[in-house]
Amino acid sequence: MRVLGIETSCDETAAAIYDGDKGLLAHRLFSQIDLHAKYGGVVPELASRDHVRKLVPLIDEVLTASGSFPADINGVAYTAGPGLVGALLVGAAVGRSLAFGWNVPSVGVHHLEGHLLAPMLEPDPPAFPFLALLVSGGHTLIAEVAELGRYRILGTSLDDAAGEAFDKTAKLLGLPYPGGPYLAKLAEQGRPGRFDFPRPMLDRPGFDFSFSGLKTAVVVAVRGLELDNQMRADVARAFQDAAVETLVTKCARALRHTHSQTLVVAGGVGANLELRAQLSKMGARLRIKVSYPRPEFCTDNAAMIAYAGYLRLARGEREDLAIRARARWPIDQLHPPGGDGNRIADGG
Ligand code: KG4
Ligand code: ZN
Repeated sequence: MRVLGIETSCDETAAAIYDGDKGLLAHRLFSQIDLHAKYGGVVPELASRDHVRKLVPLIDEVLTASGSFPADINGVAYTAGPGLVGALLVGAAVGRSLAFGWNVPSVGVHHLEGHLLAPMLEPDPPAFPFLALLVSGGHTLIAEVAELGRYRILGTSLDDAAGEAFDKTAKLLGLPYPGGPYLAKLAEQGRPGRFDFPRPMLDRPGFDFSFSGLKTAVVVAVRGLELDNQMRADVARAFQDAAVETLVTKCARALRHTHSQTLVVAGGVGANLELRAQLSKMGARLRIKVSYPRPEFCTDNAAMIAYAGYLRLARGEREDLAIRARARWPIDQLHPPGGDGNRIADGG
């Protein structure tokens, strides 16, 4: 079975082709970062309009790059939520319509399920069940994954998502948008221990996170200071160390609690090299396997959507003819494939 995957939930337009026998055949992505950078964040209406411009040419490109004709495509998967609803509707409308025109089934994929399954596109993929740490621009969660579609959330962020905290701190340091990768780069030059920021929630039981206090601690620490480049790097380093230690400690706690043998790391912040290094170290200490996607599949992409859609389509899941998208869609409302359990309600 060969599946076209489409991702348009936020500010990246992406298309990919996944083949059940041959694996990932092609993937392309157009990032709208330049479009939104001058506003310091994603402007939803501009995002939707740009998806309209870029999506069909990208689909053409992946068909050509994978040596596929439309007649070779056996199903279409598109991100149906959560995300910006106008942006999602572009992918849903194009995906659903292509499936109708090609007379193949389609499925609306949960964006975070896509992220969680992304490590399975790599060699030596993780197997169910596993514990997942999902750290993106909009979400931070630790979830127990029993099987495809069965997710139990153990902890989430009570305020800012991890990526959001990186981005806001980066903005404070005068770095471009989105700041996560720039802050990480700057932190490489930072000297450890020059600033000491709190490790939020580590003193409390459970697996929830809170990052807004950390961001505030940075604001307070730099207030009134004339920061030279070295000091900015020191702040970046101290922030990253605090954020990473918090994430790693909560993961270790959840791994012990669930007796999981595998930790899957996904989402944009999963591309952070220091986080990966510290999680790997922790994995070695606890003798568990830690799986990550390649960095480009940590951030938004269509390969993960094509793959998640393939798994669901191959097990008989199908959308009806309606074009639906959901801005909010808790991942623990998903079900394993089969039946109507995953059909997303209108609105949301
Ligand atoms: O998963 P993603 O591409 O989009 C969402 O679904 O949110 O995640 C984007 C987030 C942004 O906040 C970005 O700054 C952050 O991931 N990010 C990073 C790194 N690369 C991307 N944060 C820290 N270090 C990085 N290397
Ligand atoms: Zn994402």
